[in-house]
Amino acid sequence: MSMADTRPADLIAGRPALVVGGGRMGLAIAQILSAAGIAVTVVEPHAGTRETARERLLQIFRVREQPVEGAELVRVVADLGEAPADTAFVIEAAPENVELKQSIFRRLEQVCPADAIFATNTSVIPVNRIAAEVQNKARVVGTHFWNPPYMVRLVEVVKAEGTSEETMDRTIAVLAAVGQQPVRVNKDIPGFIGNRLQHALKREAIALVQAGVCDAETVDTVVKASFGSRLGIMGPLEQSDLVGLNLTLAIHEVILPDLDNSAAPQKLLVDLVAAGHTGANVGQGFRNWTAEERTELQTRLDRVLGAKKSTKP
Ligand SMILES: NC(=O)c1ccc[n+]([C@@H]2O[C@H](COP(=O)([O-])OP(=O)(O)OC[C@H]3O[C@@H](n4cnc5c(N)ncnc54)[C@H](O)[C@@H]3O)[C@@H](O)[C@H]2O)c1
Repeated sequence: MSMADTRPADLIAGRPALVVGGGRMGLAIAQILSAAGIAVTVVEPHAGTRETARERLLQIFRVREQPVEGAELVRVVADLGEAPADTAFVIEAAPENVELKQSIFRRLEQVCPADAIFATNTSVIPVNRIAAEVQNKARVVGTHFWNPPYMVRLVEVVKAEGTSEETMDRTIAVLAAVGQQPVRVNKDIPGFIGNRLQHALKREAIALVQAGVCDAETVDTVVKASFGSRLGIMGPLEQSDLVGLNLTLAIHEVILPDLDNSAAPQKLLVDLVAAGHTGANVGQGFRNWTAEERTELQTRLDRVLGAKKSTKP
């Protein structure tokens, strides 16, 4: 039987998965695993969040037009002590705080079997730092999903210093089998690949507004209506190859010395946050927002990304 014919649950010998944190990402990840037939325990310490978990989970099944019976494979508990004794695969999706994540990984080693894989969904923290106190580092790996993971299927699978090849291969096989698109990241650096690229762009975008070159709306228009419109089809390096590397070299000789290279967040961003202008939720961020504008943008995004895009399993 080829790997493509293997049922996702068989890749972990029919054993359960554990998702630590039942927030936005954790619950969506639990939905992806359970829809593929894997039993999942979600650990969520916040009582209010536990109460809404079932309805949020069902909502994702409905959006994906998948049989809601899959949700019966998910159990939500308050504490890691309730993890199944035969847990095979853990994905940690707790808040982005290194000390908190370290304490979770310390406990995981106490409550999970010796062969369980420990994955972290950290956005930017190096996996080695999170796993600093784990004895068996061969079993620790980064699995950076994107939001929402059932629409944006890429997962960066990050090899930390001690991660074994077996852990990498098993993690990639499980993620592919449940319908995600795993890619291998060979070095455990802050932000991995996607967030480094995304935030390099944001640094320059903020610098342009701060320097008065244009306003925030103009930056977004330029990105969306120019190179952004082709990014989903052609990556930046493919594009360079296509037009010829001489052009990229000539451009870099002129532009690189002039690009923003701040090593700290820019003043504009710090000042906006300090003033409480934290974005669309409060009506003001880099630009002003009405509730309608916010909803309209989110709706358009959902429609274009396509909730049902993930065809497997
Ligand atoms: N939201 C995104 O766009 C996104 C994308 C990729 C990765 N991530 C990463 O995923 C992780 C989770 O992000 P999120 O957006 O789901 O956050 P979230 O705040 O929605 O969810 C985190 C959940 O963890 C719970 N929690 C707190 N302490 C815990 C503990 N000790 N044990 C278990 N659970 C605990 C919280 O109550 C909360 O429900 C973060 O590391 C984040 O950086 C987020």
